[in-house]
Amino acid sequence: MAVGSVEPRLIIRGGRRLSGTIAVSGAKNSALKLMAASLLTSGVGVLHNVPDIQDVRTMQEVLEYLGAAVTFEEGTMQVDTTEVQSHVAPYDLVQRMRASIQIMGPLVARFGRARVAMPGGCNLGPRKIDIHLRGLAEMGGVVRSDHGFVEVTAEKLRATNIFLDYPSVGATENLLMAAVLAEGTTVLENAAREPEIVDLCKFLVSMGADIEGAGSSTLRVNGVEEMRPAEHTVLGDRIEAGTFLIAGAVTGGDVEVIGIGPHVLELFLFKLRSVGVQVQENSRSIRASGDPSSYTAADVATLPYPGFPTDLQAQMMVLLSIAKGVSVVTENVFESRFGFVDELIRLGAEIRVDGNHAVITGDRSLTGAIVRCPDLRAAAALATAGLAAEGCTELREVQHLDRGYERFEEKLQSLGAEVERTGVRPGTCGSL
Ligand code: EPZ
Repeated sequence: MAVGSVEPRLIIRGGRRLSGTIAVSGAKNSALKLMAASLLTSGVGVLHNVPDIQDVRTMQEVLEYLGAAVTFEEGTMQVDTTEVQSHVAPYDLVQRMRASIQIMGPLVARFGRARVAMPGGCNLGPRKIDIHLRGLAEMGGVVRSDHGFVEVTAEKLRATNIFLDYPSVGATENLLMAAVLAEGTTVLENAAREPEIVDLCKFLVSMGADIEGAGSSTLRVNGVEEMRPAEHTVLGDRIEAGTFLIAGAVTGGDVEVIGIGPHVLELFLFKLRSVGVQVQENSRSIRASGDPSSYTAADVATLPYPGFPTDLQAQMMVLLSIAKGVSVVTENVFESRFGFVDELIRLGAEIRVDGNHAVITGDRSLTGAIVRCPDLRAAAALATAGLAAEGCTELREVQHLDRGYERFEEKLQSLGAEVERTGVRPGTCGSL
């Protein structure tokens, strides 16, 4: 950051009931993969409802680095892959965003080679790619790693049966994109079933792929000769939707999210109801309201879809911190996703972490404080806690929010929140 410039912060004055309707943006965890899938063909693909967030801008840089031409305006992105020459994803981009490795499958499938900087760990713990690489090797790819890069080469990938020893989202997507141009039928067993995978399958089929079983744990991919550019609208972001529903619930408000179907958040909504939040739903919207003094404890365990989404674990812990009774949250997807707990304790929560379990003693009144955001979803959770807290909260390291939430504070303000992004002297809550 330039000398003299002040790190942006979010200043939140809590205690206001949020109410109203927001439209969710397109899903980050789908848009990034659809952009990578564009590499499977030559020509101009069009994506609508693409969120204008930092991670999308980073994937745009990756595609441009490979030689693609990308235009992006008001949610519509055109990706022209006609001039794609390179097959290398550099360290600086991969370090900024792990999802850059999702170009591996498409590049090996189309060009026979991909060289990607090895993604390091992140605040969520080690982020291995062994399942990605093993699958590509089983398809005949030669996997080498040197100088901090992993390189996969293959004259022509061949179809085979691959059993994923964990239903990894990223590995399923990379192998799916590798298999669409492979000779023969590839079967991915124990594949991930997330709605974003279904969205990717829809886009690939519109590009000419032949895929069966989208959304199930068995994907059958009949390889095709070639793919063609296509047009697609990104599905709504279920994690953004869940974040705003919890913001409504913890402030005793009444918030509706539109542009998302409740079926993609079934277990999450079941848990909200079990805490005592009123939830109404119809095919294209979900509404949450409630009185925090009536909320009671619940246990939550994160799991691959259709289990409870790990990306809503932190936000749920805020809700359970004010609910009466003792709740246990178990994180089964990432090794260390409780890094934000100390910050939530600074806001008045009572939480004891023991390995991948967090024991929450609820019925706490949160009070505003200065907190630091360790990652994207933790940032959203701490903002939510600030909305429920008495007094003023100052969020630092808010760049994490910008990676995955489009116009976060504007949407909160439209629901009546008193929140402002500002650069203020350390230690104060500024002019609010
Ligand atoms: C995707 O990450 C999402 N990211 C994550 O969202 C999300 O939390 C995760 O899926 C689970 O739902 C994007 O889509 C860009 P995984 P991904 O492969 O693909 C281990 C957010 O906040 N694993 O299912 O990396 C891995 O270490 C982000 O939006 C292996 O061991 O998830 C992790 O513990 C955070 N070997 C677990 O599996 C592998 O080869 C889940 O990883 C691959 C994964």
